[in-house]
Amino acid sequence: MTNRFWRIDARPEGNQFTSALSLVEAPLAEPGEGEIVIRNAMLSMDAGTRMWMSDREDGYQPPLPLGAAMSGLVIGRVTASRHPDFPEGTLVRAFGQWGDFSVVDAGLSGAIVLEESVADWRAWFGPLGMNGWTALWGIESTGAAKPGETVLVSAAAGATGLLACQIAKLLGCEVWGMAGGAEKCAALTRDYGLTGAIDYKAGNVRAALAATGGIDVYFDNVGGPLLDDVLVNMNHYGRVAVCGLVADYNSGTRTHPSEFDQVLMRRLRIEGFFSPDFMHHGPELTARLRQWHEAGELDLPYDVTHGLENTLVAYDRMLSGKNMGKVIVELEA
Ligand SMILES: NC(=O)c1ccc[n+]([C@@H]2O[C@H](COP(=O)([O-])OP(=O)(O)OC[C@H]3O[C@@H](n4cnc5c(N)ncnc54)[C@H](OP(=O)(O)O)[C@@H]3O)[C@@H](O)[C@H]2O)c1
Repeated sequence: MTNRFWRIDARPEGNQFTSALSLVEAPLAEPGEGEIVIRNAMLSMDAGTRMWMSDREDGYQPPLPLGAAMSGLVIGRVTASRHPDFPEGTLVRAFGQWGDFSVVDAGLSGAIVLEESVADWRAWFGPLGMNGWTALWGIESTGAAKPGETVLVSAAAGATGLLACQIAKLLGCEVWGMAGGAEKCAALTRDYGLTGAIDYKAGNVRAALAATGGIDVYFDNVGGPLLDDVLVNMNHYGRVAVCGLVADYNSGTRTHPSEFDQVLMRRLRIEGFFSPDFMHHGPELTARLRQWHEAGELDLPYDVTHGLENTLVAYDRMLSGKNMGKVIVELEA
């Protein structure tokens, strides 16, 4: 049997993904001891994976070697197994490969068995998945948001951001978002009940943020110049939970906040957090997220592209902000 997969051939410049990755075909490997083969039903497009495509060695994950299959989260059924916990037919989520199939070590890939009772599998990527875990952890643990506090979320209309906004609201906070474009901002206030949303592309973000009356928790997905605009609008003893730095991923720049002295002036705490560090809390995070999700209180739109051959279109949609909510590629069964 053969397998088609996306191979990384070169380090992409900006969002030039089509010249850096190619869709290739190779014989499907047999699973080794402890490995499983997954027939991928859907691929999760995650902004953080953009860093693995670069050659930086000091990131939280080493660069993907050139010539390797592009990796990312997948959902699908096990078609061959040499691991007793994942028999053939099991529905799983794992860090696999952008391909028709993923061949992974069940332990190292973080594979988990998914409950069949959740009708919409996409939820296992979004509200019940890594985005949900990250949003809840960042708001509640790293950001230490308290009821009545003002929370600001950047990339607020994306997968992680939109969940963070809703979770902060569920925890009793007043929530503001920043997103690119008037349409996304209108949806954030109209459909998700945010107190206000700021279109960072419209300019003068610093002045616009004054309307928040001061920010207690900043859930930062973006970094870049927006971070400076936020630092001067933070309340004393505020917390900045650094989730991601998407402004730097495509450009290859690095965020250097020029308003860093506000950390002292306003006695701020800035702390990064990374989902693999709290993966062992997954079951309890999922249980809480699931309650909200099933009660209809945690909702996420899906931006779906069909076909493995269109994966790079989906990936570009996400990194260029054409998405609202979670970007997914659905594959032929
Ligand atoms: N720490 C962790 O463990 C962890 C786990 C998951 C995700 N994350 C982070 O969460 C963030 C969001 O990831 P995601 O996978 O959920 O993607 P996403 O938010 O669904 O999509 C990325 C969004 O980033 C925004 N964006 C892109 N370039 C930007 C720029 N230069 N300035 C401002 N906004 C920009 C776009 O929205 P606009 O239209 O608003 O520009 C786009 O919709 C990323 O930083 C990612 O690394 C971290």
